Amino acid sequence: QTRVLTGITTTGTPHLGNYVGAIRPAVAASRRADVDAFYFMADFHALIKSDDPARIARSRLEIAATWLAAGLDPQRVTFYRQSDIPEIPELTWFLTCVTGKGLLNRAHAYKAAVDKNVETGEDADAGVTAGLYMYPVLMAADILAFNANKVPVGRDQIQHIEMARDIAQRFNHIYGREFLVLPEALIEEQVATLPGLDGRKMSKSYDNTIPLFAGGQKHLRETIMRIVTDSRLPGEPKDPDSSAVFTIFQAFASEAETAAFRKALEDGIGWGEAKQLLFERIETDVAPMRERYEALIAKPAAIDEILREGARKARMISAPHIAELRHAIGMGSGA
Ligand code: TYM
Repeated sequence: QTRVLTGITTTGTPHLGNYVGAIRPAVAASRRADVDAFYFMADFHALIKSDDPARIARSRLEIAATWLAAGLDPQRVTFYRQSDIPEIPELTWFLTCVTGKGLLNRAHAYKAAVDKNVETGEDADAGVTAGLYMYPVLMAADILAFNANKVPVGRDQIQHIEMARDIAQRFNHIYGREFLVLPEALIEEQVATLPGLDGRKMSKSYDNTIPLFAGGQKHLRETIMRIVTDSRLPGEPKDPDSSAVFTIFQAFASEAETAAFRKALEDGIGWGEAKQLLFERIETDVAPMRERYEALIAKPAAIDEILREGARKARMISAPHIAELRHAIGMGSGA
């Protein structure tokens, strides 16, 4: 059996990028008989970006409801909150002590914060917490605590998975045994980087996201109508490959639908009409999920119960695994 594991940071509301990059492939993988799936709400990661407890709780509820609405079966999948697993921060420390500081200096999220400071003439590390710096080690612990083999993610997370491999390798080398499994990223090339409203990667930090459910059908349509396009008029041929409208359509459509949409753009369909077709294509998939989502989000206690049960199952794996590591590195009694 292959162990598949992935998480979503609990800041903000789930968007189309989270759905096509992580949730949809992860739910599909969880239905395979040869897959043992672990999916979680990364609320420890949320602390790096937010000190607002209510916002983190709301986001955690929305993300959990989204996974369930997208078809995750909590009987099959170990579905939990990261903050319910005390072995994760413990392993984070073990890994921290074998991780080169230089490795973390190269992490994208940290480097981006430093570059921005330098650009604006600030002190390089101004406003950068040790939490942001340590982000890749925490993420490595999420994966390695469960010895996951495959991690379905969007392209923006590849570096973190590679770092988890490096850290695991280093740990195994130092302690002389294959204690930790080296994980691999699982990327769907077609949707690895879904563009947002402005054509850059869809991301909470760029404020260019299209929410999956928030605001309902009307808001989905309005947001899609705001996707930036060139100024070609109806009747003028459009270049599908340079347009977010086309790329997002492709992430939801079959090959035949995509080919027809490409032809329509090349034949000069207007951008307004193209966006309406995009909205209709997405809505076909989203409408039934939205209905389930609304029902789920109205019952936070039931979701809480599912997550608690998930944490219990998860710890049946992580607790003995970390106990073994603790012993191997000379911690605790009897070591
Ligand atoms: P996060 O919360 O930023 O994003 C969650 C997932 O959505 C994917 N994604 C995208 N995929 C395609 N196109 C996009 N525009 C797009 N935007 C987001 C991300 O690649 C990710 O798969 N650090 C992680 C959460 C995490 C994690 C883990 C993931 C914590 N521990 C362990 C895997 C394994 C993050 O912040 O993702």
